[in-house]
Amino acid sequence: MKVITSVPEWKALRPKLPASLGLIPTMGFLHEGHLALVRRARAENEAAVAWIFVNPKQFGQGEDFTTYPRDIERDLHLLEGERVDYVLAPTVEGVYGPGFQTYVNVEELSKPLEGVTRPGHFRGVATVVAKMFCLTQPRRAYFGQKDAQQCAVVKRMTEDLGLLLEVVVCPTVREPDGLAMSSRNVYLQPGEREAATVLYRALQGVAQAFRAGERRTENLRQLLLATVASEPLGTVDYAAVTDPETFAAIERLGARGLALLAVKFGKTRLIDNIELTP
Ligand SMILES: Nc1ncnc2c1ncn2[C@@H]1O[C@H](COP(=O)(O)OP(=O)(O)OP(=O)(O)O)[C@@H](O)[C@H]1O
Ligand SMILES: [Mg+2]
Repeated sequence: MKVITSVPEWKALRPKLPASLGLIPTMGFLHEGHLALVRRARAENEAAVAWIFVNPKQFGQGEDFTTYPRDIERDLHLLEGERVDYVLAPTVEGVYGPGFQTYVNVEELSKPLEGVTRPGHFRGVATVVAKMFCLTQPRRAYFGQKDAQQCAVVKRMTEDLGLLLEVVVCPTVREPDGLAMSSRNVYLQPGEREAATVLYRALQGVAQAFRAGERRTENLRQLLLATVASEPLGTVDYAAVTDPETFAAIERLGARGLALLAVKFGKTRLIDNIELTP
């Protein structure tokens, strides 16, 4: 496994690598969710490159950029165990050099849900992902369904800019009790960790109601809210039931839908979602 932190060094290397490169973009502090993406990338491509970069441009004022969990040594050990070929772990200066001023904005998909609570977040995400795609020129890039709106933003950008790669969305990997794996789960205090299972319980309840025939989004949303309200340590940031493609608020769902939650436990904000299928 070759670890590269210098962007110029990577640029010199990339032309020598296979066209079929699988990219796994991460902010590090890896868990089984990331490793599932890594395994898929390895299986489907000639070589796999993991990107580790805590991207300052996707954190808002007062968010946790400086305290975001980091452990590069542990991450490299895990990636080595998965037989990843390349790790690209650039510095902030390497990605955003002096005079940097080019941004990518996926206009409509960036607005609702995460976009309301985290203005500018998806502009930061789209910008770094665009840069990463240009630098690595992957055949496929692997993202997790846990960040459903991010997946939609990245897919839209890839299509709109005519990029020659496939965006692969992988299922959410969960702890045995249903909590979606997330690097930020380490912030949870013991009581909060137990309480956090309420997200998946609430989402499953809505999926069940959908299967039983409920299509009115407001009823489904109230069901989400009622379940989360049963857990006093959680404060809802948003609860939404939307069209799975546009994330638009609609009154009635068609054949499919998406239920999404963002809930805060103390200082820790968790997100999760479930696809609604008959
Ligand atoms: N539980 C999971 N299952 C599958 N993919 C995941 C999971 N958690 C994160 N991912 C995916 O891994 C990629 C990198 O995500 P990131 O490094 O932000 O990790 P994270 O766990 O989401 O951290 P945080 O919650 O702190 O943002 C993203 O595509 C994300 O969707
Ligand atoms: Mg994340």
